[in-house]
Amino acid sequence: MPRSADAVVFAREFVRAPLDTASLVPSSPTLCRQLTAPVPETGDPVVVELGPGTGVVTAAVQRRLGSRGRHLVVELNPRFAEGLARRFPDVEVVCADARSLAELLDARGLRADVVLSGLPWAAFRGAGSPGLLHRIAAAMAPHGAFTQLGYAVTRWAPPARAQLADLRSAFEEVATSRTVWRNVPPAVVHVARRPRPHQAR
Ligand SMILES: C[S@@+](CC[C@H](N)C(=O)[O-])C[C@H]1O[C@@H](n2cnc3c(N)ncnc32)[C@H](O)[C@@H]1O
Repeated sequence: MPRSADAVVFAREFVRAPLDTASLVPSSPTLCRQLTAPVPETGDPVVVELGPGTGVVTAAVQRRLGSRGRHLVVELNPRFAEGLARRFPDVEVVCADARSLAELLDARGLRADVVLSGLPWAAFRGAGSPGLLHRIAAAMAPHGAFTQLGYAVTRWAPPARAQLADLRSAFEEVATSRTVWRNVPPAVVHVARRPRPHQAR
């Protein structure tokens, strides 16, 4: 899909569900590169995306994987999920809440090597949300890496700080990128590695 078509679909869904969609436009190519950097260039990794939207990150992961590994995306919005399934026949598209990640992977006998999250704050609130990051960590392989998109302008707001604290308690190492100015709005990427093994699911 051309980026302009992506942008139209994205803006329409933002109007329908602003809290869940959280942005007016998809991530830029620069941001996509940073979000997907932990996807290994060799081997057959299990890569999971949470909140793929129109699939700009999905396309970057597919380019990086070639025909290797396994690529699963979990999208709450059925209109986004339908578009993704049409556009990416080699990707397993699941229309579900990211909160059910552990069950989705258990059902397939998988552990994620890499989890890439574009989830908005809304996904971290409400029933079943406390501990979402711990549950994601528990669905990952011991050497796994997790990236979370954040917006620079809200970086110091209480929900962002709470999420960073959760990340630090769910993973051994957390690093935050410099601001990616080539994105609307400017963004940061948190990269967390080595999920702590003791977290309850
Ligand atoms: C900020 S957009 C990111 C889209 C895309 N990853 C990108 O970078 O352009 C957030 C996405 O998360 C999805 N989403 C929101 N809550 C979710 C949830 N609980 N489970 C799965 N997807 C969710 C939205 O429908 C939307 O596609």
